[in-house]
Amino acid sequence: MTQRGVFIDEAILDISYVPDVILHREAEFRALESLFDHMVAAPYEMSQKVIILGGVGSGKTLLAHYYGRSLRSKAERRRVTYEYIHVNCREQRGSLFMILSQVVKRLRPEFPERGYAANELMDILRKIMDEDNTQILLALDEVDVLIENEGSDALYYLTRFHETEPDEPRRLNIMFLSKDPEVFRKLDRSTLSSLQRNVIRMRDYDQAQLADILLYRVERAFRKDAVPMEIVDFISELAYKENSDARYAIDVLHGSGRMAEQSDAAQIQPEHVRTASMGIFQTLNKEAVRQLSPHEKLVLLAVARFFKANDVTHGTTGEIEEAYRLVCEEYTEKPRGHTQYWKYLKNLKSLDFVNVKLQASSQGRTQLISLEKIPAEELEKEVARIIDAS
Ligand SMILES: Nc1ncnc2c1ncn2[C@@H]1O[C@H](COP(=O)(O)OP(=O)(O)OP(=O)(O)O)[C@@H](O)[C@H]1O
Ligand SMILES: [Mg+2]
Repeated sequence: MTQRGVFIDEAILDISYVPDVILHREAEFRALESLFDHMVAAPYEMSQKVIILGGVGSGKTLLAHYYGRSLRSKAERRRVTYEYIHVNCREQRGSLFMILSQVVKRLRPEFPERGYAANELMDILRKIMDEDNTQILLALDEVDVLIENEGSDALYYLTRFHETEPDEPRRLNIMFLSKDPEVFRKLDRSTLSSLQRNVIRMRDYDQAQLADILLYRVERAFRKDAVPMEIVDFISELAYKENSDARYAIDVLHGSGRMAEQSDAAQIQPEHVRTASMGIFQTLNKEAVRQLSPHEKLVLLAVARFFKANDVTHGTTGEIEEAYRLVCEEYTEKPRGHTQYWKYLKNLKSLDFVNVKLQASSQGRTQLISLEKIPAEELEKEVARIIDAS
């Protein structure tokens, strides 16, 4: 029996998967190089810190891992000792003690869990680094949780790690990652001013960049031809509106693949994307449907019928209007004129039932309508039921 299905390696869509490239973050990567490559070029001379800011799913965690890994291979080539240690402060409940324990355990796996205070761990870490004659690039991910929990002190001590003994080798370099820039206001003035010098702000991805990030996964996770380009564009359009979140984009891609498998399809179809992006907590707002005027309901039904019948992500206003006329025929209603129809459509857009976007092409400008987080089949059923009941 041959296995059909759309996936060849579903693990590539998993949240724990770390891709071996990072796309569209060249400037940020170069900024990290200019801050931390000294660890390899001139070991032990400087201790740098950086704040990396960016929205949810903007690639902060990936960038840190990716740079940490690239510095490792440079260090190996030059035979410089170097460790990259990535700690998620949320997972360590924002406790400096727990965070430092993680760092120490990376260097000394047998180190006991308990029995030390945070400042003692700081000294132990110093000693171990001396013993190993090593240097560390420490990434404190979701550092906002540490600041919320411990206030200014934790960062005060971390950033001054080398200030007690000015002549000792510089061994600790730190990246602070946060999606919340505001939390740094809680720091005392001198800690803040020493950190403010180096801030990397990750710009939000645009839609084309999100599409590239998706394509990388598509090529590795799916069978050839299982994900049409139109689907990649559709998902990147959704994710762009969802605060440009690359994680959301990959999640919807993954969910859409699952939906395709469930319905035994060889390709992801727009309806799979709509179903996957609807999520667990969203449902169609039936009350909002009931409050629509009679012809708005008919236009909405036409939208649902159109997307149920056509495996496309977008329809033109003309195509939907055609479907609207058919629906009117069926309900023996006289279709309203074009201007009125257009008003209904606009209202459905403002109520978030449909999306309307303008597209420029060689034929001029066209309005394109799409259905985003509602599966056409479900919408059709509900709207028809509500029309029949009224
Ligand atoms: N530029 C990129 N190239 C390839 N994959 C990316 C890129 N940016 C993000 N991703 C992927 O998107 C997902 C989210 O990225 P990441 O975890 O780095 O975001 P984040 O900024 O740390 O988000 P959060 O603030 O929620 O922790 C990951 O699966 C990551 O691999
Ligand atoms: Mg992250």
